Amino acid sequence: MAKQFKPETLCVQAGWTPKKGEPRVLPIYQSTTFKYDTSEQMARLFDLEDSGYFYTRLQNPTNDAVAAKIAALEGGVAAMLTSSGQAANFYAIFNICQAGDHFVCSSAIYGGTFNLFGVTMKKLGIDVTFVTPDASEEEISAAFKPNTKALFGETVSNPSLEVLDIEKFARIAHNHGVPLIVDNTFPTPINCRPFEWGADIVVHSTTKYMDGHATSIGGCIVDSGNFDWDAHADKFPGLCTPDESYHGLTYTKAFGKGAYITKATAQLMRDLGSIQSPQNAFLLNLGLETLHLRMPQHCRNAQKVAEFLSKNEKVAWVNYCGLPDNKYYALAQKYMPNGSCGVISFGLKGGRDVSIKFMDSLEFIAIVTHVADARSCVLHPASHTHRQLTDEQLLEAGVRPDLIRLSVGIENAEDIIADIEQALNA
Ligand SMILES: Cc1ncc(COP(=O)(O)O)c(C=O)c1O
Repeated sequence: MAKQFKPETLCVQAGWTPKKGEPRVLPIYQSTTFKYDTSEQMARLFDLEDSGYFYTRLQNPTNDAVAAKIAALEGGVAAMLTSSGQAANFYAIFNICQAGDHFVCSSAIYGGTFNLFGVTMKKLGIDVTFVTPDASEEEISAAFKPNTKALFGETVSNPSLEVLDIEKFARIAHNHGVPLIVDNTFPTPINCRPFEWGADIVVHSTTKYMDGHATSIGGCIVDSGNFDWDAHADKFPGLCTPDESYHGLTYTKAFGKGAYITKATAQLMRDLGSIQSPQNAFLLNLGLETLHLRMPQHCRNAQKVAEFLSKNEKVAWVNYCGLPDNKYYALAQKYMPNGSCGVISFGLKGGRDVSIKFMDSLEFIAIVTHVADARSCVLHPASHTHRQLTDEQLLEAGVRPDLIRLSVGIENAEDIIADIEQALNA
């Protein structure tokens, strides 16, 4: 679908464009395999000489339609769906890094990604240096080495809610001849399109706002098509030199701007699996059809809730980049003038015990290990995800013992505030 359409139209129309007599609604191609008439036809697919489907571990038409919609929303040239956001982040890096390589990453990222990069990928021989995203360009540049292959950051970090200076990060990455990869899960392309600010690859946990209804785990990788791999061919041999597992084909020569996603599909999905199930892709597509309606409501509600909390005497502190006194307000206004997301963190006077009592007193705002879906929910990391840590250890990990993460849903803001108010009074 042509890119001239506005995001609202892309949410509804992009990806699946049925031809005469085909279903109006994107079908679920619930099939592992695809039929061909001759052995030669199939052989050409295996040699990447023709495009087409042969086995759903690599590609599936339902997934490709949804990936195309996300690519259109982000303004990219190609995308692939993965089984989870974790898989998307792993593949985004592993597609251009191998044992002996290194990448630089903002320290303000989701804890699961931090562990994937800092522990699991190290076991594969891929090293990472974490940098404070607010550090100067010189300090961040100092983390780069000759074997550095990428720079990674989160547009709005989970759960610390720090806003990434995408232009600064893109400049640093490009000065070192490597791509900037941005996890754009929290704002979604409705609120921020990192490619417009210089990012090269975007990743998503589609599990969050994109699905929006907490039904399906999933991820997505989108390529802007802007990074010139061949200009840095020595750094990216996997893309710029022949792949012996495909009879000596070179991805950049054979696929041009589609090289990165084709390699991720043809090599990584082939060898490691982790594709999103077509059933989940179908549900994700339903979520995407209303993303442009839900995101503004999440942001409007979160703004009202953050303002309410910041005026309440029982609340010790509030972190939301839509509040003018927030450290990231100016960056948020620059990159996300229409709002960032619905996630707020705050603490109550009285600390951990008061936070627990508050959460137990909520009525419809539920305690769940999730963020970013239609229903308002809360999590207290000190009691849940980080419960084995002492208060001192929590602070070292950047999690205050009283921190409550509130994911503001799309219910009526007055009802959300009333539930919070009665729990504060309890
Ligand atoms: C910003 C961000 N990236 C990636 C992930 C991982 O996604 P998933 O849970 O879909 O594997 C999460 C999960 O919370 C996240 O918040």
